[in-house]
Amino acid sequence: MFPYQSRKACWRSCVLGLSLPLLMLSGAASADGDGKWRGGQNVYEKVCGHCHDIGVGPELFGRGLPPEYITAIVRNGFRAMPAFTASYIDDKSLQEVGEYIQKSPARAAKTEGSKP
Ligand code: HEC
Repeated sequence: MFPYQSRKACWRSCVLGLSLPLLMLSGAASADGDGKWRGGQNVYEKVCGHCHDIGVGPELFGRGLPPEYITAIVRNGFRAMPAFTASYIDDKSLQEVGEYIQKSPARAAKTEGSKP
C-alpha cells in the first residue's frame, strides 16, 4: 500500500511541475505573438471599422457571419477589399476578430438604405 501511495504522490507533483512551466510558456508565447492587437474588438476598431463602420465595406454585424468566412476573406481579399497577411494580423487575432463580428448584434442606430 505505502509504496503505491508515494508513487502516486510523486506522479502528481511531476505533472504539476511539468504543466506549470508549460502553461507559463504558452502564456508568454501568445503575449509575444499578438503584442500588436488586444483581442477581436481591438482589431475591428483599428482595421476593419475604417471601412466597415462608414459604409465603404458592407455592414458585418448582426449577420451571424461564420468566423471561417470572415477569416478567409481577410486573408485573401474580396473584390474591393484588400487582403491582410499574417504579418499584419496574426492568426489568433484574426480568429478573434471573426468571432467578435459573428457575436456582435446589428447596430440599432442607423438603418442603411443601401442594403438590398
Ligand atoms: C480598405 C477598406 C476595408 C478594410 C480595412 C476592411 N474591409 Fe472588409 N470589405 C471592404 C469592402 C469594400 C468589401 C466589399 C467588397 C465587394 O463586395 O466588392 C468588404 C467585404 C468584406 C466581407 C464580406 C462581406 C459580405 O457581405 O459578404 C467581410 C467578411 C469583410 N469585408 C471582413 C473584414 C474584416 C474582418 C476586416 C478587418 C480585418 C475588414 N473587412 C477590413 C473593405 C474593407
